[in-house]
Amino acid sequence: MNLRIEEGIALVSEVIGTLEDAGLSNQPKVVFGTSFIHLESVASMVEDFDHIQASAQDCSAHSSGAFTAEVSAEQIESVGAKYVIIGHSERRSYHKEGAELLKTKISQALANGLKVIFCFGEELQDRYDKKHFSIVEDQLKGSLAELNSDDWNNIVLAYEPVWAIGTGETATSEQAQEMHEFIRKCVSELASNERAENVSILYGGSCKPSNAVELFSCPDIDGGLIGGASLNASDFISLIKIGSDELY
Ligand code: PGA
Repeated sequence: MNLRIEEGIALVSEVIGTLEDAGLSNQPKVVFGTSFIHLESVASMVEDFDHIQASAQDCSAHSSGAFTAEVSAEQIESVGAKYVIIGHSERRSYHKEGAELLKTKISQALANGLKVIFCFGEELQDRYDKKHFSIVEDQLKGSLAELNSDDWNNIVLAYEPVWAIGTGETATSEQAQEMHEFIRKCVSELASNERAENVSILYGGSCKPSNAVELFSCPDIDGGLIGGASLNASDFISLIKIGSDELY
């Protein structure tokens, strides 16, 4: 919930312009996950690019009707956005969104042709209690177990340890890599080995230019979900450049 509309447009336009000048508008893939107020404008700014897309940060579990202030997946698709983030830790904790509700939101998104960036991750106490692997496994199974093979083509996973989001604390690259490898194993059980190899797994949580080289060079980390650092054009551009060096 950051930035006025004119500030959001200026930020996105600076990032796109710099990427074009640097010949980076084709890779790596960049998705701007904006608030609803900015979404239509940003979707139209990126419509000529294959590798730059717009995403909502949530969608309703309902398809349409009397759900005041909710925004449906169909409405998101109708403004030209291609993605929606589902299960962000702030939705899980402030709005008590659990596995079942998230499953319904995922169905809505997929039924309306959106790709889903599914977020999950353990809290600090879970890690202290050495329950982080089982918590993550439950979050994955709880919302993704019923997906079919076509659905998986439209799923991106984003591991975000809650204790690292917006706190300045980052998981070490060893902690992140270990979890990403585990997530791939869970996907091979939920879907298939092939799916596990191909699904993109992003790391999120205080990802910034100073730690991204180490994180993005881990074999099972396919990119980042960037929060605070994406609000600063030069940091965000640096992260995209690091992505293009380390991921491709
Ligand atoms: P952060 O946020 O990069 O500021 O930690 C990540 C997120 O919002 O998911």
